[in-house]
Amino acid sequence: MNRLSIIKPDDWHLHLRDSPYMESVVADSARQFSRAIVMPNLNPPVRSCDEAYAYRQRILSALADECQFQPLMTLYLTDNTSREEIVKASKSDFVFAAKLYPAGATTNSDAGVTDVANIYAVLETMQPHSFPLLVHGEATGEEIDVFDREKVFIDRTLNPVRSDFPVLPILWEAISMPYAVDYVESQDDWLGATITPHHLLINRNAMFAGGFHPHHYCLPVAKREEHRLALLKAASGGSTHFFAGTDSAPHARHAKESACGCAGIYSALCAIELYAEAFELAGDFTHFEAFMSLNGPAFYQLPVNSMRVNLERIEWTVPDTLPFAGEELVPFKAGEVLQWKVVTDD
Ligand code: NCD
Ligand code: ZN
Repeated sequence: MNRLSIIKPDDWHLHLRDSPYMESVVADSARQFSRAIVMPNLNPPVRSCDEAYAYRQRILSALADECQFQPLMTLYLTDNTSREEIVKASKSDFVFAAKLYPAGATTNSDAGVTDVANIYAVLETMQPHSFPLLVHGEATGEEIDVFDREKVFIDRTLNPVRSDFPVLPILWEAISMPYAVDYVESQDDWLGATITPHHLLINRNAMFAGGFHPHHYCLPVAKREEHRLALLKAASGGSTHFFAGTDSAPHARHAKESACGCAGIYSALCAIELYAEAFELAGDFTHFEAFMSLNGPAFYQLPVNSMRVNLERIEWTVPDTLPFAGEELVPFKAGEVLQWKVVTDD
């Protein structure tokens, strides 16, 4: 098979950053995706509808006039998020979800939720509006091994929230372990999960091969090879619970190659190609379109896109670096050869 044609996909988990960095990366996502759920973990975070609206305007003004890309905004939940703000968001036509970052779990999560009990009133408000809760699914706490954080999050947070809010749509962003795959599959359609291209393509060895590789460091951190294989099976296996969300998270090269390097992998340059690469490894493209372009809209109850994208089997080399507001950005798979390329129709 040398050609693939799928309905144009959406990115259900994307970090676009803010000016001036956003202007360097937003076109990469806009070229490949129709819509993207835009993460609110700016500094300061996007906590209100007014802030989300202003951020959305900045994104739209960075795009070319003819560009059809739609940024779908999200709110960052804190211990102090009000019910009123959630009602306002659920009634708006530009905020599509609210994100739970456990405080301290990842980049710019310090203002996140310190105890899920603190947002129970907010979850009570979200449920009847079917307003999706997005979660960064890692428990925090110094006593928890970094490779166990996802499991502890299910046991301590997700499972209780599921029992207490059984018809609240919850989307677990960037699952990284079979424990999460099995948990999500065992649940009803109110729980979905996104899977990133990097969790489908690398395991934790990629961080340590012949020296430390900071450009393979992200959160949740990549796990064992058997875990990568379980994610690949989940993504390619046809379950409607799972869909594409890149978690593309750009950081300037110096911030990654540092004594305390930032977590985040930049995959937006060639996200569709990376997913195609992963499905190629799985040896089965049967459910590629559903994973990329159908399951996400179904979860968010949004229409499926009408445009299509085509890929051809063409070898090409990912650039070593990209411009990033006067700094450098190292993309995922920098300098490596990929087998698939998105092509524009003549
Ligand atoms: C993300 C970032 O840099 O904003 N980093 C990452 O490793 N994924 C935050 C996040 O989604 O955890
Ligand atoms: Zn993320």
